[in-house]
Amino acid sequence: MKKYSEMSLSFENKFILAPMVRVGTLPMRLLALEYGADIVYSEELIDWKFLKSVRRENDVLGTVDYLDLTDGTVVFRTCPREKGKVVVQLGTSDPERALKVAKLIENDVSGIDINMGCPKEFSLKGGMGAALMSQPEKAKKILLTLVKNINIPVTCKIRVFENIDDTLNLVRELETTGIKAIAVHGRTKAERPQHLNRNETIRKISETLKIPVIANGGSREIENYRDMVKFREQCGCSSVMVARTAQYNCSVFREEGMKSMDNVIIEYLKKCIEYDNSPSNTKYCVQNMLKELQETPRGKRFLECQTLEQICNIWGLSDYCRQKQLEYQSRGNIGRREIMP
Ligand code: FNR
Repeated sequence: MKKYSEMSLSFENKFILAPMVRVGTLPMRLLALEYGADIVYSEELIDWKFLKSVRRENDVLGTVDYLDLTDGTVVFRTCPREKGKVVVQLGTSDPERALKVAKLIENDVSGIDINMGCPKEFSLKGGMGAALMSQPEKAKKILLTLVKNINIPVTCKIRVFENIDDTLNLVRELETTGIKAIAVHGRTKAERPQHLNRNETIRKISETLKIPVIANGGSREIENYRDMVKFREQCGCSSVMVARTAQYNCSVFREEGMKSMDNVIIEYLKKCIEYDNSPSNTKYCVQNMLKELQETPRGKRFLECQTLEQICNIWGLSDYCRQKQLEYQSRGNIGRREIMP
């Protein structure tokens, strides 16, 4: 029988930052933790992206970086501040490839999640994401291969089927693999965010399984911490995972209440500076927070920004940004400073 270390991550009674492509990079994950999230999932990373990357300890930033071998961009960056709390979500359709990645990263992260819910054409065509829900044997093989061969918890994130019994049959099958938790987004593959989340289905799943079920899909009704707790109760789960509300204002994880958008942007930008986040990723995340305010004069100035320093200037952080970048350059870290065309 495999032994997890005593420090192994538990998925019971947790508030979790959901996996979000481009949003769930290191600065957002750290911000979520600072605000009170217990666990943070990375953006979905496709297995072969990791397989063509190289692991580097970055002494200047104090991070561990997985860098793309072809262009040097950061595939995944982590640091001690999220140790014990970060789960990497993989997009995969192949047990052996998934295992290779898991072996590569298992000492740097605290869990591996398999994406079984993504409805995007790219994923479905590659047999990944929601495609795995209609191939339960393959899905189980991937999970089983990981559970058997790595020393950190394995989880998966699914959507639901139209028919509740089909959903219950699937989750029962997936549970047999030894996964430590299952996150459930209560919409079908065809449903979009405007559709009601099937909280009752999540409740039934939670009643059926022994492992923790992580409720997801509630952002339409979640504006703050209290709503998050209410959603958790409605789904009869002990843990909840939040995506869109956190993407717009990550302080949803604060029990003490929300912070203003500008406050959140400033705290987010400080982390981007500290961890030398790419300007394009930083801009994308701030754009999501600004939403319709991109149409204001300040928003328009922001949209013209090409460098991290320019973005930081709008929130009064350009001196801090310049000073840090000079410090990092003098110590040998040369990150990407401009948004590439
Ligand atoms: C997502 N979602 C998602 N899901 C996933 O399993 N892996 C991923 O990489 C992503 N990427 C992603 C990016 C962005 C910008 C959004 C808004 C969503 C789906 C997400 O994790 C979640 O399941 C849904 O958004 C429903 O939860 P909320 O938003 O109602 O809390």
